Amino acid sequence: MQESKQAHRKDEHLSLGVNLWRQRKHVQIGATFEDVRWLPETFPEMAVTDVDVSTTLFNHQFKWPFYIEAMTGGSNLTGRINGQLAEVAKKTNLAMAVGSQSIALKEPNAAETFKLVRKNHPNGFLIANLGADHPIKNVRSAIDMIDANAIEMHVNVAQELVMSEGDRKFYWLDNLATIIAKSPVPVIVKEVGFGMSTTAFNTLKELGPAAINVGGGNGTNFAIIERRRNRQPDSFNIDHYGLSTVESLLSAKLVHNQIPLIATGGIQSANDIVTSLMLGATMTSSAGFMLETLMDQGQIALIKQIEEWQLALPRLFTLLGAKNNTSLQKKDRIYTPALENFISQRKNANL
Ligand SMILES: Cc1cc2nc3c(=O)[nH]c(=O)nc-3n(C[C@H](O)[C@H](O)[C@H](O)COP(=O)(O)O)c2cc1C
Repeated sequence: MQESKQAHRKDEHLSLGVNLWRQRKHVQIGATFEDVRWLPETFPEMAVTDVDVSTTLFNHQFKWPFYIEAMTGGSNLTGRINGQLAEVAKKTNLAMAVGSQSIALKEPNAAETFKLVRKNHPNGFLIANLGADHPIKNVRSAIDMIDANAIEMHVNVAQELVMSEGDRKFYWLDNLATIIAKSPVPVIVKEVGFGMSTTAFNTLKELGPAAINVGGGNGTNFAIIERRRNRQPDSFNIDHYGLSTVESLLSAKLVHNQIPLIATGGIQSANDIVTSLMLGATMTSSAGFMLETLMDQGQIALIKQIEEWQLALPRLFTLLGAKNNTSLQKKDRIYTPALENFISQRKNANL
């Protein structure tokens, strides 16, 4: 397939994203998963076999509380990666989101690199992906393209502002309201790694999407990726901007968010999944870590990694005396002083 500028951008995102994860030197954005300490459960009074880690979202029961998050598609290389990720998702019984399908709406040839995901994971729960400015017509096409079970509408102000060719106008709310009203499948409003504050959750309360993906920091950092992509020297630097996944989840709690939450951003272990669920997520997902494992170690290694998480989850739930998510969310926890400080500042935000 002849490749366009946009397809080339997909390859650059992929290689720069993998490089960031390879170095394991993420710029730390606020509180990390380690800032949430679990309390020992000396008497769990249960067996590992009593645990049910499944989770229900959009009236669908997911066997596992994590999935492969939106990354790619659109170029020859990223099409191959999409195909491999879908095979992994099928083998491990995970849901999967595809990367932004905007390219396939402009370049019909690129649609194959997304359709492959449905072909390789025929009965899987698949999530389509588009930017928040796309009209409902495009939303329907993206859903049809992969016979999607849900769609993520990504909101990525920070990423666009760093990109030299990025958008500079952000009027999304009316469009999102139309999409939420008219989409044939559940709509997830999704950040891409800069997190969400109490203000966002208040706005989303009005908008009422089927789920919110808090997309917090401490994992893939698009401020750094886009800055590295820019050909022109540019002093615009927001590498340290945003809220972490932990801080975003707590922000949702502070404004009594009732919309189901998906936690993404920096998840690289079963422990991170447990902490996210404990802080109120119904579901979690992981992008960069999965990608780097696939690219550097191959499909078998990624499958093995996912199976290790699947084995660990019921053991971790037992460690905490929780038979399911609902019970996990009620478990006491200890926050480090840094996280306590974040909470008290956000509580007093209007003072
Ligand atoms: C190579 C790459 C490409 C991505 N492309 C998209 C995209 O097209 N649409 C989207 O919503 N998010 C995209 N993301 C963001 C992820 O879905 C996720 O929100 C973010 O990477 C944070 O999760 P992580 O720390 O587990 O990587 C991409 C991430 C990576 C690593």
